Amino acid sequence: MVDVILGMQWGDEGKGKIVDYFAPRYDIIARFQGGPNAGHTLYVNDKKIVLHQIPSGIFHESTINLIGNGVVLDPVTLKRECESVAGFGVDYRKNLYISQRAHLILPTHRALDKASEMSKGVEKIGSTLKGIGPAYMDKTGRNGLRVGDLLDKSFTTEYIKLRLKHQQLLDGFHFKEDMSAWEEEFFEALEFMRQFKIVNGEYFINDKIQQGKKVLAEGAQGSMLDVDFGTFPFVTSSNTISAGVCTGLGIAPQKIRDVIGVTKAYCTRVGGGPFPTELSDATGEELRKTGNEFGATTGRPRRCGWIDLVALKFACMINGVTQLVMTKADVLDAFAELKVCTSYKIDGQATDEVPFQMTRVKIDPVLKSFPGWQSDITGLKNYGGLPEQMKNYIHFINGYLKVNVSYISNGPARDQLIENL
Ligand code: GDP
Ligand code: IMO
Ligand code: MG
Repeated sequence: MVDVILGMQWGDEGKGKIVDYFAPRYDIIARFQGGPNAGHTLYVNDKKIVLHQIPSGIFHESTINLIGNGVVLDPVTLKRECESVAGFGVDYRKNLYISQRAHLILPTHRALDKASEMSKGVEKIGSTLKGIGPAYMDKTGRNGLRVGDLLDKSFTTEYIKLRLKHQQLLDGFHFKEDMSAWEEEFFEALEFMRQFKIVNGEYFINDKIQQGKKVLAEGAQGSMLDVDFGTFPFVTSSNTISAGVCTGLGIAPQKIRDVIGVTKAYCTRVGGGPFPTELSDATGEELRKTGNEFGATTGRPRRCGWIDLVALKFACMINGVTQLVMTKADVLDAFAELKVCTSYKIDGQATDEVPFQMTRVKIDPVLKSFPGWQSDITGLKNYGGLPEQMKNYIHFINGYLKVNVSYISNGPARDQLIENL
């Protein structure tokens, strides 16, 4: 049996905290896509940690963590992360497994990401510059190197061949940067990686499922950043939606039970691209300040706006969402008025569908207003005790989406989660 937790918006919905909360109910936590572009924040014994590639179940001693074949893996970041979780007393060698089919991010992938973004000028995607796009391009272009290749004696020869190809591309971009330090670090990290449990991820996970073990698939990014269904081209390069679980882990669709979508009580986006409910005014600034909306991976300020039910309904549809988790509800505590977007107006025409092309059209969000609750909810433990205004807000969202908000997160700590099942 496999359940999925994934992002419903443009990433940073609080997936890391939610996966960490649910982890004790599962035997295996598995990442199925993305790479070090992700930044999943967890609080362990009141100390903050941001995970980029290691699944968010790593702090639970009896939980197996698998990096699936759909992930693109940067050995350098992985080594750093392992060292940082070891500081929390985690024996990562015991519980961390890596699929041999996961593709490697090379130093030249990172350089290509940078060169490509620089060449786009003002139209840049706003990539995290972690080499994600170029690594996935080499996967679909059938050039990439995989984790399992590390164990083959031809690895260095294949690496040099690929680096040469990349160098030609970099020359085309007139990109000049000394990469020798990156490369040195990379080779050191490869040595470190060779000592890991490198497995046939698809057999590993299917065997466990057969034995009755419970798997939680942890998504990275968000549904609106999906390469097929997001706000293309301002997206990431992987399938972030539930379908990605099948290809990113090697499991069949009928094995998936619950799809748990995580959404903020409002909305954020980091990087370029369309964001219909964005607030470029004092209210947006207040959301950013109160929600501490600065990127966990890049530190960039996140763009903020009201919750977008059109995009959320779309995300519920393409993911087959069965339950919703609403995070950062406490960030709205002080607001006297809240708004939700119920449709888009494009050229004077209202629609409740996400259009094919969001970059070339001007979208005016149609907003419905709600009174705020203006009280501190961070210490509350049960749904019954929530302010009536908040219950009304959630009730409207449930009705619109036809999927219920089953959990409300009211603070960053592990135990700040209210069930409403
Ligand atoms: P992820 O990428 O989806 O895991 O999310 P990030 O870690 O990038 O960003 C979420 C941020 O919100 C982190 O700083 C979390 O500690 C924080 N957070 C998560 N849930 C809550 C919540 O309910 N309330 C508040 N105030 N912060 C939260
Ligand atoms: P988590 O898992 C928020 C955004 C980048 C950029 C676009 C493409 O923490 O939610 P990429 O580096 O993938 O080529 O960047 O996607 N992006 C994220 N935004 N959260 C993330 O991950 C993101 N991963 C990528 O800002 O706009
Ligand atoms: Mg994040």
